[in-house]
Amino acid sequence: MSTTDATTTPLRARAAWASLERHHGAIRERHLRELFAGDPMRGERLVAEGAGLYLDYSKNRITDETIGLLLRLAEECGLAERRDAMFRGERINVSENRSVLHVALRMPKGESVVVDGVDVVKEVHEVLDRMSAFADRVRSGEWKGHTGKAIKNVVNIGIGGSDLGPVMAYEALRHFSRRDLTFRFVSNVDSTDFVEATRGLAPEETLFIVSSKTFTTLETMTNAQSAREWSLGTLGDDSAIAKHFVAVSTNAEEVTKFGIDPDNMFGFWDWVGGRYSMDSAIGLSTMLAIGPDGFRDLLAGFHALDEHFRTTPLERNLPVLMGLLAVWYGDFFDAQTVGVMPYSQYLQRFPAYLQQLTMESNGKHVTLDGRRVDYQTGAVFWGEPGTNGQHSFYQLIHQGTKLVPVDLIGFGKTLNPVRDHHDILMSNVFAQAEALAFGKTEDEVRAEGTPDAIVPHRVFEGNRPTNVILAEQLTPYALGTLVALYEHSVFTQGTIWGIDSFDQWGVELGKVLAKRIIPELESETELAHDSSTNALIRRYRALR
Ligand code: F6P
Repeated sequence: MSTTDATTTPLRARAAWASLERHHGAIRERHLRELFAGDPMRGERLVAEGAGLYLDYSKNRITDETIGLLLRLAEECGLAERRDAMFRGERINVSENRSVLHVALRMPKGESVVVDGVDVVKEVHEVLDRMSAFADRVRSGEWKGHTGKAIKNVVNIGIGGSDLGPVMAYEALRHFSRRDLTFRFVSNVDSTDFVEATRGLAPEETLFIVSSKTFTTLETMTNAQSAREWSLGTLGDDSAIAKHFVAVSTNAEEVTKFGIDPDNMFGFWDWVGGRYSMDSAIGLSTMLAIGPDGFRDLLAGFHALDEHFRTTPLERNLPVLMGLLAVWYGDFFDAQTVGVMPYSQYLQRFPAYLQQLTMESNGKHVTLDGRRVDYQTGAVFWGEPGTNGQHSFYQLIHQGTKLVPVDLIGFGKTLNPVRDHHDILMSNVFAQAEALAFGKTEDEVRAEGTPDAIVPHRVFEGNRPTNVILAEQLTPYALGTLVALYEHSVFTQGTIWGIDSFDQWGVELGKVLAKRIIPELESETELAHDSSTNALIRRYRALR
């Protein structure tokens, strides 16, 4: 298969696609009960391991033939070639004409990727070293605020990728975090977010990190201006800004205009997408919380999974398998969503983080060369930590009419051993995967003496697919591997669908319209929208 074939043949015209369609017709009616009964080793065979993660994908509605065909599809779509092109720094983000090099953010010192004559890994480490020096100064109390007091509170202001990664990582790695520092996160332009995040904090002990790749995002700039007023309201003069504001951005010009000293700016590059940036300087709050060494462990985890993705044969490659299975369910079984259920309270924001990663990446309806797709692309990702989800929406997954493939994530050891909590927690991971796959038959329900009329209500059809992902413990390293796992699964899916997983044009229109509407809310100007928008604006004018 030449590179040209890989990019020009429409997906549904590929030989492997046609084979998968036929194969789906045969497998659709087969039950996991039957597949397991016919293959006693299935649960030990259909697993893969890498970078400290164990993936059990045996409870999927697949056979060896399915995997073979999906791998053939990956080959026909040029997955390995596109992956290698990404690692080489080629401009695979075609609609923005950019390289896609988040993998360079976690390459060890000494490795090199040259883009336009510049060794980006060297630049990455220069920023990391500056971040580390800064983090050490703040954490040790050497960095003093305007009145000479040490920093006790860190407030990250950002939105989307400049917020979700930092919040998720802060929550996930709380165990490793400095407990005598307070961390808060402001993202929403709803002033409530800012007011509640700064409530009770003393400006003289508070450091704001203004995180924005572009440094033009309306929400972030509005919150940053309010933070500035909040600080200066107490600290008085403008010179306080240098001690209480740092910026993380690719836009030095706008940072300077805002009044932040470029010496207090930590840069990154246009080849880091916002949703792929938590391991860049956008992770400054993470580094302040867990320290430079912890942050480097996080990067090492990312890198270990990158290496797994780059070098492991596709049939044993965790993100490739997960990505192909997502395509299998989305395109052949018509599954619209994927549930991600981390059995860890620390991972409570992981599903929200994954929503941007997956849906901003793969929620696209045109191919790289601009053709409308005639197949399904990115699923809706959603989830909640187990076991909470079990007592709310799992009912629908077990007995509803929709097929929801689910990822269940668990850990061998808890960071907070208390009595037998962890065994109870993990028993639920295994029980849910078992119940979803095998269900409970009518005969089994009857054998329990259930009255006839109630039997149908108590039957579990089963045949609901799951991936179970296990790691030893939720360390910074393990978090890095988990995030990279999903990043590369997203890449795999996007490559099969032939879409640009690294642009996000779909967020633009709403932003432009909001900017047009803002002055219309503040004055009685004539309105020229559709009748619904006009009426809503008039109603708001009356209410405000
Ligand atoms: O509106 C979407 C988006 O562009 C995301 O892709 C990005 O993560 C977020 O806004 C924030 O952008 P910035 O970091 O430039 O403020």
